[in-house]
Amino acid sequence: MALTLKNVLISDEVDPQCIEILKRNGIDVTKNTKLSKEELIAEIPKYDGLIVRSATRVTADVINASNLKIIGRAGTGVDNIDCDAATKKGIIVMNTPGGNTLSAAEHTCALICALSRDIPNAVQSMKEGRWDRKKYMGSELNGKTLAIIGLGRIGKEVALRMQSFGMKTIGYDPIIPAEVSAEFGVKWLALEDIWPQADYITVHVPLIPQTKNLINEQVFAKCKPTLRVLNVARGGIIDEQALLKALNSNQCAGAAFDVYEEEPPKDYTLAQHPKVIGTPHLGANTVEAQERVALEIAEQFVDAVKGKSLFGA
Ligand code: NAD
Ligand code: MLT
Repeated sequence: MALTLKNVLISDEVDPQCIEILKRNGIDVTKNTKLSKEELIAEIPKYDGLIVRSATRVTADVINASNLKIIGRAGTGVDNIDCDAATKKGIIVMNTPGGNTLSAAEHTCALICALSRDIPNAVQSMKEGRWDRKKYMGSELNGKTLAIIGLGRIGKEVALRMQSFGMKTIGYDPIIPAEVSAEFGVKWLALEDIWPQADYITVHVPLIPQTKNLINEQVFAKCKPTLRVLNVARGGIIDEQALLKALNSNQCAGAAFDVYEEEPPKDYTLAQHPKVIGTPHLGANTVEAQERVALEIAEQFVDAVKGKSLFGA
């Protein structure tokens, strides 16, 4: 069934090609990335379609105030969209799940390397005019065990890349069977078997009730004190307070975070911790990924108008 789509609001930064494609196909586009929640609620009834990245919270009150037919997420996670409220109103929700996979995987691998040699602190010491060779004793990745929680698109790409550094890759995913993970070199283990073996743990799961605080105080207690953890998935999958406690009590040796329970964080304690490398949600921030997700979401909207089969969340 073809969708009649006259106008679309884009409320987050999206590559300009998205606007061009929609306009070329006769859809009016308004881009406004400065709307407060109240302004969005006041503005939204004018539009048939909405395109967001992760900054706009498409909550039930936004959805219920709208006449939207379709919501598009130029990216993977749809946790900023109340999909239940959208479904109740018959609104289609679409995402572009594969468009930023490689960028998020590469960012994760870069952070694993940075953690192993404490590169950000070493760089900072040079910028401050210090030559601290003894202070920055690293550890090799070769022979270390990388545990990947969530063996979907990004988890698999992280595994393949880190295997080339000589890391042993183990992992857990309730959907991906052991035979499938073995095909890309990951030994499937139950979580309880993973915790004591891991030198690095990286999470690549959606934020859902089952994954909230998946890595918590009890988990840190079961891990090696040399453990380093990474969250390039969604804030809240690793319990930030439990992590701070583990870092301060030497129960955890380091962490790299790209995503936070609150974005932007009001409290920068975690990102400013000397054992933490923090980046401001940059996993998908590459020219290539942003072009891909912008093109994909625009093309999916056009396909919906043309009555072609739909794809996404
Ligand atoms: P995906 O759907 O391909 O893979 C997620 C995997 O998690 C699935 O295989 C699923 O079975 C598994 N999973 C679900 N519940 C689980 C649980 N309780 N324990 C273990 N595994 C579980 O998703 P993806 O494309 O790999 O993305 C993963 C995450 O990365 C998402 O949260 C996404 O939003 C996030 N992401 C972040 C950035 C960034 O900029 N930092 C960029 C892209 C994606
Ligand atoms: C995603 O889920 O795709 C990421 O959060 C990247 C983004 O910010 O779009």
